[in-house]
Amino acid sequence: MTERWTPASWRAKPAKHIPSDYPDADALGRVEDTLRQMPPLVFAGEARRLKTLLGDVSEGKAFLLQGGDCAESFKEFSANNIRDTFRLILQMAVVLTFAGGKPVVKVGRIAGQFGKPRSSPIETQGDVTLPSYRGDNINGMEFEPGVRAPDPERLLRAYNQSASTLNLLRAFASGGYADLNNIHKWTLGFVADSPLGARYAALSDKISETLAFMNAIGINPNSYPGMHQVEFFTSHEALLLGYEEAMTRVDSTSGDWYDTSAHLLWIGERTRQLDHAHIEYMRGIKNPIGMKVGPTLEPDELIRLIDALNPANEAGRLTLYGRFGSDKVADRLPRLMAATKREGRAVVWATDPMHGNTLTASNGYKTRPFDRILSEVKTFIDVAKAEGVHPGGVHFEMTGQNVTECLGGARALTETDLLDRYHTHCDPRLNAEQSLELAFLIAERLRDDKALEFKAAV
Ligand code: PEP
Ligand code: CO
Repeated sequence: MTERWTPASWRAKPAKHIPSDYPDADALGRVEDTLRQMPPLVFAGEARRLKTLLGDVSEGKAFLLQGGDCAESFKEFSANNIRDTFRLILQMAVVLTFAGGKPVVKVGRIAGQFGKPRSSPIETQGDVTLPSYRGDNINGMEFEPGVRAPDPERLLRAYNQSASTLNLLRAFASGGYADLNNIHKWTLGFVADSPLGARYAALSDKISETLAFMNAIGINPNSYPGMHQVEFFTSHEALLLGYEEAMTRVDSTSGDWYDTSAHLLWIGERTRQLDHAHIEYMRGIKNPIGMKVGPTLEPDELIRLIDALNPANEAGRLTLYGRFGSDKVADRLPRLMAATKREGRAVVWATDPMHGNTLTASNGYKTRPFDRILSEVKTFIDVAKAEGVHPGGVHFEMTGQNVTECLGGARALTETDLLDRYHTHCDPRLNAEQSLELAFLIAERLRDDKALEFKAAV
């Protein structure tokens, strides 16, 4: 990997999961030229700030919470949906901060998470075969020839939707909504009257008491304006490299290249071949980046990938998301963690307990059992502890909406319930209640660890 990098050098490499069947290739080129003229969505300084925070995570001083839709869509785009995902992340972060006693770094899978790698490039219904749905920034979900053909104009619409999503997120994060004094107001209606809602309300009461005390001694949002705001970052899978290339700009402060489409970009499980386009593109941008790590990856290959993506071994540069499946994680993860530890690689180890735990229910719905998701997180924490590695964070597919896409959880959703409110454009997401429940269960696990660390220290 010593060849010269440019934002376009990936074009000389083989690339998987990037559509090559645009009916009008010139039109795609014109759209990419238009995107090159569009304002950046994020600034390099913000990406550097996230990298610093992730550096803290790699040292065990903070915890990463990353989550949002599997795939954003044009249809589900609304202020309410954005607010609900945002406040769910805030709620989960409160639960995790309170238990773990560490700052939680909040990153949404939002404002750009459109394109999807698919297991098959085609879909057959009856005797009709069409290209698979690949995400709203490429084609449409309806099974019709005109809709399934890739349309470059969709990239512009995705850019514009990302820009307005980010605008609202910035307002929520800095305009007072995220002030801890509003903690009771973040509760989503349908969660409020559930056992989880009661548990969250009890925690919020404790926090409100603490805030009242702090206010009494003069520590409040007026004296510390930072209390009025949260830091919130965006992320998506860097799948469509033409789009990412067009959003890649030189930062005038450092002279470095940043992908300004999001603060953090990650490489998916299906596009992390060492000599392919996605690794080539990602090695050159200076954003903090992530990579999915699945059951087929061997330790020596992992180390080679780390060397390509983070040659200077910078803390916070690279986050690894294990996504093995609850039945494979105990077998596959230890040797990979042992390798990064042995080789002294400064990475964040996080878990994505979603993508290895997808199954098809007997009624044909793609779903994920809550118990398996929880089990993978627990095993991840146990393995990390055994290997002397920090369990750095979690990466979820989730929504603030009251959907019925994953099985189980406190309301014990069944296969029949999947028929009720199954709205995802790709993979099944945890609903707000399931997400909050998971946050409490992880918090308990982290708190146990803290108690153990404390015992070991005294
Ligand atoms: C995803 O995160 O949406 C995804 C496709 O995951 P993976 O690359 O791990 O399969
Ligand atoms: Co997914």
